[in-house]
Amino acid sequence: MAVDLLLGLQWGDEGKGKIVDVLTSNYDIIARFQGGPNAGHTLEFDGIKHVLRTIPSGIFHDKAINVIGNGVVIDPVVLAQELDGLKQFNINYVERLIISRKAHIICPTHRLLDAASEAAKGKAKIGSTLKGIGPTYMDKTGRNGIRVGDIELDNWKEKYRALADKHEDLIGFHNVDIQYDLKELEEEFFTAIERLKELTFIDSEEYLHQAQKQGKSILAEGAQGSLLDIDFGTYPFVTSSNTTAAGACTGLGVAPNRIGEVFGIFKAYTTRVGSGPFPTELFDETGEKMAKVGHEFGAVTGRPRRCGWLDLVALKYACQVNGVTQLMMMKGDVLSGFDALQVCTAYKYKGETIEHLPYNIEAENITPIYSEFACWEEDLTQMTSVDQFPKELNEYIEFLEKELEIPIKIVSVGPDRKQTIHR
Ligand code: GDP
Ligand code: IMO
Ligand code: MG
Repeated sequence: MAVDLLLGLQWGDEGKGKIVDVLTSNYDIIARFQGGPNAGHTLEFDGIKHVLRTIPSGIFHDKAINVIGNGVVIDPVVLAQELDGLKQFNINYVERLIISRKAHIICPTHRLLDAASEAAKGKAKIGSTLKGIGPTYMDKTGRNGIRVGDIELDNWKEKYRALADKHEDLIGFHNVDIQYDLKELEEEFFTAIERLKELTFIDSEEYLHQAQKQGKSILAEGAQGSLLDIDFGTYPFVTSSNTTAAGACTGLGVAPNRIGEVFGIFKAYTTRVGSGPFPTELFDETGEKMAKVGHEFGAVTGRPRRCGWLDLVALKYACQVNGVTQLMMMKGDVLSGFDALQVCTAYKYKGETIEHLPYNIEAENITPIYSEFACWEEDLTQMTSVDQFPKELNEYIEFLEKELEIPIKIVSVGPDRKQTIHR
């Protein structure tokens, strides 16, 4: 059976966690393939909100197996906190959660290095979540990293020590004021490593290969968003992994010809947290209203998310890079009652009108060109079928489908599992 993918098409926080949870009843296995605890995936059901960081969003379903793939970077301290969260709800994670031996481990000094690197950058900082993501992927590609499989070996602490010592030198090299007590951080880290050992470590590529042979259905869950991809995002204001479809192949060991549906998720508007260009960003009351009504605060850092209109140029680019086969539009309910809606359909770039994402999308190079749409007045949050959709919402959806040439199969009208409408 083919492996389906679910990915964010913007700058993250599109609602991936919610939709993976909704779709899990159709799958045997849910697998995260990249990123780490920089992700915050929110799920809501039975009046309770859960935020997952490293654990796949299928964990609340008793029949699904959740795999943390080789492309993920794991902070044992954060993972232990997530496990504690699940314990409260009597989730049998020992049976439902398995981890790739090839996934890399975020050490306390990776987090410190992230902070030192950001502090040294000053105004040019990435706006990282400070979870140690960049330094851990640097050690992975630099061939110095520590993997989950290493902690099964006797001498892994020697390897750890050498790496941590090197990190301390690098922190010094940044010449910034970072206060820390490494002994304390290490104590917490080693305790969390023991906790990690409660879980089953697997060769996940082999596990997933066998699962496919047995006809099991697999959904790969992306983290972050396509515009944060290390290659195709708004570099250098990106994360350090391939968030796009190809990342699922390398992050799970799934061959490209085994990929089935590619579900692309986007908000009916756009948000971004952290630094970097954002052509359709609003700095006025409309942007403030989106942030307020949409509760646009980061699930991980609590930072306010920057808000703006939907950018079709960027969305088309993301659909193209990912080979999206089905779209899902989130948070349309947030826009109810806006005076009018704008959608960016082209950019004015160096005096010319263009419809593709150029190399340089900083505000000084780009002026968005908008098409205006009437907005719906109705509250969408109680709606249960497309028949109830207001005419203006249908017009918005149909316009986007025509432009993107991909069907919008799910419209989400609220954070709860049940507020999900299939078209
Ligand atoms: P993820 O990182 O892609 O999983 O998304 P986040 O969880 O970081 O952010 C999405 C936020 O929007 C969360 O607070 C969700 O509960 C919420 N959410 C998801 N879908 C909808 C929706 O259709 N309407 C509203 N109002 N909120 C939604
Ligand atoms: P989910 O999976 C939104 C952003 C950070 C920063 C940049 C680099 O919840 O959609 P990093 O810590 O990766 O070095 O930060 O990427 N970022 C996210 N923004 N949602 C996320 O994940 C993000 N993960 C990282 O804000 O701008
Ligand atoms: Mg998030």
